[in-house]
Amino acid sequence: MRLKDKVALITGAGMGQGRAACLVFAREGAPIVALDIDADAGQETVALVQKKGGEAIFCPCDVAFEEQVQKSVAAGVAAFGRLNILYNNAAVLWRDKDFGVTATIEANWNRVMDINLKGAVWVCKYGVPELIKAGGGSIINTASLSALLGFTVAQDAYTCSKGALISLTRSLAIVHARDNIRANTIHPGPVDTPMQKQWDEETKKAIAEWVPLGRLAQPEDIANCALFLASDESSYITGAEIVVDGGIMVKGG
Ligand SMILES: NC(=O)c1ccc[n+]([C@@H]2O[C@H](COP(=O)([O-])OP(=O)(O)OC[C@H]3O[C@@H](n4cnc5c(N)ncnc54)[C@H](O)[C@@H]3O)[C@@H](O)[C@H]2O)c1
Repeated sequence: MRLKDKVALITGAGMGQGRAACLVFAREGAPIVALDIDADAGQETVALVQKKGGEAIFCPCDVAFEEQVQKSVAAGVAAFGRLNILYNNAAVLWRDKDFGVTATIEANWNRVMDINLKGAVWVCKYGVPELIKAGGGSIINTASLSALLGFTVAQDAYTCSKGALISLTRSLAIVHARDNIRANTIHPGPVDTPMQKQWDEETKKAIAEWVPLGRLAQPEDIANCALFLASDESSYITGAEIVVDGGIMVKGG
């Protein structure tokens, strides 16, 4: 029960790493406020949490829209009385619409930024005052290895949104340190989730061979790192970036 009675708001809760985090956090005693743009997927996550004896509510939410996030934060507080953990996990990676700068389409660039970066801004805008009321808390922002290494085939809106999240997290860590709020970034390497559904078995095998630890990450590998950052076990860690990539970074990409 490493998160006993800590209420966790998790974005992108419908699948992949967000769903894994909902299940892991709930197992450790956290009531879950699950946000997702995909209502069927989000409701399914909530049902899975409840089936295992956990507590969760679903909030339909496109995190790009301030008022939808505001409503979701209010719904979470109404359901569980407070918020202690904000986990900004939702993002989109659009291989067919997000390119290098010379091919950038403004509407696509803006939409990616609205989801991947501004989504976290809105969650913090309405969530941080709730953490302060609760006496402090933990913010976890998911960036990406691509913000550190770049993609070989550029998806610059995605990469830039993740780079900016690092700066946002550092700012939150300093500005709210004396509110007893910690803010940290996770950089996942390749994770086997619906985001990477275009990978066939051959591609997965090639990626696994490239990763020093010899396998793709599973969503639970990232959720376990988030669990540590959400729990009091990391109470002296703020403004940090944890790379969860099986060793790709130290190998030099
Ligand atoms: N999978 C990887 O290889 C990988 C690598 C590095 C970083 N990441 C990052 O990890 C995080 C989780 O990724 P994943 O692999 O679980 O992705 P995923 O696509 O499997 O799941 C993302 C979830 O976010 C939701 N979502 C999308 N747009 C939304 C919006 N506007 N509002 C609310 N919810 C929205 C989706 O419906 C989905 O449930 C993301 O921030 C991603 O950028 C993933």
